[in-house]
Amino acid sequence: MRVLVTGGCGFIGSHFVKRLVSGGDEVVVLDKLTYSGRKENLDSVDCNLAVGDIADPEAVAQAAVGCKAIVNFAAETHVDRSILGATDFGRTEFFGTQVLLEEVRRTGARFVQVSTDEVYGDLERGGSAKETDPANPSSPYSVAKAAGDLHVPAYVRTFGVNASITRGSNTYGPRQYPEKLVPLFVTNALDGQPLPVYGDGRQVRDWLHVDDHCAGVEFVLREGRPGEIYNIAGGNERENIEITHRIVELTGVSPSLVRYVTDRPGHDRRYSLDSSKLRSLGWEPTRDFEEGLADTVDWYRSNRSWWEPIKSGEYLDYYRRQYAERLA
Ligand code: DAU
Repeated sequence: MRVLVTGGCGFIGSHFVKRLVSGGDEVVVLDKLTYSGRKENLDSVDCNLAVGDIADPEAVAQAAVGCKAIVNFAAETHVDRSILGATDFGRTEFFGTQVLLEEVRRTGARFVQVSTDEVYGDLERGGSAKETDPANPSSPYSVAKAAGDLHVPAYVRTFGVNASITRGSNTYGPRQYPEKLVPLFVTNALDGQPLPVYGDGRQVRDWLHVDDHCAGVEFVLREGRPGEIYNIAGGNERENIEITHRIVELTGVSPSLVRYVTDRPGHDRRYSLDSSKLRSLGWEPTRDFEEGLADTVDWYRSNRSWWEPIKSGEYLDYYRRQYAERLA
């Protein structure tokens, strides 16, 4: 099948493209190549790359020619950046998703919207979010994702498009941009720099290996039903401070690099996803968390040529704005 993967130069998107190509699908990637969309993520992958914006209907129509499906990974994804300024988030997540749905309305292609557990909001009081739970987003990022998702059932109901939503938990693995917890802390540790833990570090996230996340999205692409949401969870709930200590051990640095800093405003205390729906259909995660994290640390240790050039220019400006005062 010929598939359009939007955001295919990003972290999860590029793993997904590799997965489809190695399974024999023909892939076209549409990517705006923002700071986190890296061409080199698709080095030696046999696919076509169109550089463009999902919020541009012409770019989408051109890239989608002949495609039987569109899988949307394109998004501004970093919560801290959305707190610094959210305009790009609304444009890509809300308007961009609508443009893609207009395209599938026109062509009849299958559509998968790749979303996040963050739309369910904080589950501090316990329990796990089910697909039937209402959205209750806390950050400008998760509001933008929830708003984009809202188009999907509306287009299914009004126009009969063949579209589903996936909602994944915190994803880790090779080639993740070093602004997120795991790659930031691993690369900082490898450079002997501080690991800035927000607040008391007792916030809980559920960790999912990128390979398992991509397998879940592919499962939904092939087997998912129109209008349905599918949660994809790793089943590895951990406090941030546990992850931090594990990274300290795996990189062999001094625990004195761990620094408790001012919390993220509006910080969600706990995410937890119930993924029994997708599991009952046949998907399940296969990667052991301890092993997956150790492999990820090894990947960053062996691939400095991937992340060192990133940690310059725009990245340093962002890093200063986000951390200079916190670490002063
Ligand atoms: O849950 C899925 C979501 O996971 C995705 O939708 C988002 O795109 C992705 O960014 C991620 O959101 P989080 O905010 O949970 O990820 P992040 O890696 O930024 O932070 C993970 C936890 O670590 C969170 O509780 C905040 C904390 N943290 C993060 C950073 C960057 C720190 O304590 N210090 C830091 O410097």
